[in-house]
Amino acid sequence: MPTLLHIDSSARSRSISRQVGAEFAKAWRAARPDGRYVYRDVTTDPVPFIGEGWTQLCDAVLAAGSTDLDRLAAVARTPEQAAAWAVVQPLLDELRSADIVLIATPMYNYSIPAALKAWLDQVTFPRMSLAPRRFVVATARGGAYSPGSPKAAFDYQERFLRDFFAGHYAVTDTVFINAEMANARLDPALAEFRDIHEHSLAQALNTARTLAVEYAK
Ligand SMILES: Cc1cc2nc3c(=O)[nH]c(=O)nc-3n(C[C@H](O)[C@H](O)[C@H](O)COP(=O)(O)O)c2cc1C
Repeated sequence: MPTLLHIDSSARSRSISRQVGAEFAKAWRAARPDGRYVYRDVTTDPVPFIGEGWTQLCDAVLAAGSTDLDRLAAVARTPEQAAAWAVVQPLLDELRSADIVLIATPMYNYSIPAALKAWLDQVTFPRMSLAPRRFVVATARGGAYSPGSPKAAFDYQERFLRDFFAGHYAVTDTVFINAEMANARLDPALAEFRDIHEHSLAQALNTARTLAVEYAK
């Protein structure tokens, strides 16, 4: 039974990244009624920042030269480390139980929201591999960052997540679905770009549906 883990991270309830992510989830669930669907919202149910106990766990993993995620629990020796592990374990189990990880994220300050970074910090340990899981990222951004656009080099959201999943999870085929120019909806100075935004959003929703059906096979 395949599992889809769906993470939302926009602080906005009427959010575009939520809309695109939901489109993927809806299409996948329709195509895989036998599948398991797990949903986490890291803004309404925030993950705490890592603390001293977590860093001790991570240091112990490094010192043990261990790459086996099943043996992580064994490195928690002090009450502080056990408390850190109690936060990590359900999040990591949830992530590892997924075949497809769908992350919906707004662009904040050219990158990702702190709420999503807090989740990544909790669930990421040295030299882990999550391959061959599939990662899909649905983003919304106020401006345009696609190749060739004037601000393409400022896109630390896609670049960060792509490199992060490759470097830390050994997942090198993350698919990004980006809805761009969202600020044109609101900012009168960007009114001339509203069509570009509408087109980008329609394309993102379409890609989300198509990819979900493909990944459901
Ligand atoms: C705190 C904050 C920071 C933002 N920073 C950027 C930015 O650096 N570049 C950009 O293009 N848009 C930026 N935006 C606009 C958002 O990317 C845009 O509103 C997008 O639709 C947010 O995704 P959402 O609709 O899923 O919430 C920012 C918005 C907020 C609230």
